[in-house]
Parts: sequence; C-alpha cells; structure tokens
Amino acid sequence: MKTMHFQDVISRLEQTNGLLQDNWCVPRETGRFLHVIALGLKAKAILEVGTSIGYSTLWLAQAAARNGGRVDTLEYFEARQQQAIANVKDAGLENTVHFHTGQAIDLLTRMQTQGRSFDLAFIDAAKQEYIDYAQLLQAMMPAGSCLIADNTRSHRKEMLDFLNYMEHSSDWTVAELETPNGQLIAYRN
Ligand SMILES: C[S@@+](CC[C@H](N)C(=O)[O-])C[C@H]1O[C@@H](n2cnc3c(N)ncnc32)[C@H](O)[C@@H]1O
Repeated sequence: MKTMHFQDVISRLEQTNGLLQDNWCVPRETGRFLHVIALGLKAKAILEVGTSIGYSTLWLAQAAARNGGRVDTLEYFEARQQQAIANVKDAGLENTVHFHTGQAIDLLTRMQTQGRSFDLAFIDAAKQEYIDYAQLLQAMMPAGSCLIADNTRSHRKEMLDFLNYMEHSSDWTVAELETPNGQLIAYRN
C-alpha cells in the first residue's frame, strides 16, 4: 500500500513540468542511488541536509521505512519545506520523516550537542558549507557509516576545501561518481 503511494507521488513530482529542476532536486537516478545505498546499509538513522520539496527525502524515507528507521531532514526555506511535508504525507511516510527548520550549521550543532548519531548522511544544501557539515557530522557518524555529497562536479569550485579534506582525512575512505553532477561517497573508517 505504502509503495503504491510512494510511486504515485514520485511520478507526480517527475511529471510536473520543471518542478524538480526549479527546486534543485536530484535527478531520478540519484534518487534511486540513494534509495539503494540506504537499503544496502540497512540504514535506520538517515540525515539529509537540504530538503527542498522532498524529492530526495522521499527516496531516502521509503528505504528508511523498509529498514525500520527514520530520516531527519534540514531546510531553512519554509515555503519549500511545506511542500516537502505535504509530499511526504501524500506518500504515507509522515511517521518516518522528521523535518527541521533553520540554518543547517545551527541545526547540526544542536544535534551534535544532543548526541545524535547517523549511519547515512546526504548533504545537498549550501555548497560552500559542505566542509562545515562534514566536520560537524564526523562526530555523529560511527565507523561503518556513509556520507554522500551531491554536486561534486557541477559545483566543484565552491567545495574544494571539502573535497581536499575528505580525500586526505584518515577518518574517511572516499570515491567519486563521475555522473554529470558528481557525488562523493565516503565511508567512515
Ligand atoms: C539542492 S536543494 C536540495 C534538493 C533536495 N535534496 C532534492 O534532491 O530533492 C538545496 C536546498 O538546501 C536549502 N539550503 C541552502 N542553504 C541552506 C542552509 N544554509 N541551511 C538550510 N538549508 C539550506 C535550500 O533552500 C534548498 O532548498
């Protein structure tokens, strides 16, 4: 039943002219990639930085629901977040997703103070802040967890510090997907 709703909502978003592009959502293949990685990791505690209207959130949440887990997702633009809340509800995943409103760095700092821990993180908000997200998340991601960062090719110049840090840190083992937008996938050592 939930799967039907999920696929219906995904199709509706994909078929609404320009909606996903106008809201900077990932392409379908990246959504499917996130979904499969979350399933493979059996991730129960998933963090997303940059919700927009919830397209990638839906892919992560459908996997989290199958894994018996949840997604926490961060967004500062309330109008887009309201659309995400509606989309997630339409998919019947409202009990799986926790929405947080505010600046990502502030929200991550609070989560760190609260002792939160994640086994999968997807970062897709302000590209020049990826370095801050990664350094805050590092303390919240145990060995064996994975961090995925979007736009490592399309926005490379804005995140050189992040890419350099991840490549040379002994805390992470990384690989980069050479898709048009580019994704870094990092394993927490
Ligand atoms: C690329 S979009 C996210 C797309 C979404 N992950 C998807 O694929 O469906 C980036 C989102 O991050 C939000 N954002 C940008 N900077 C932010 C910040 N500093 N704190 C919180 N949200 C931020 C933007 O408002 C935007 O909605």
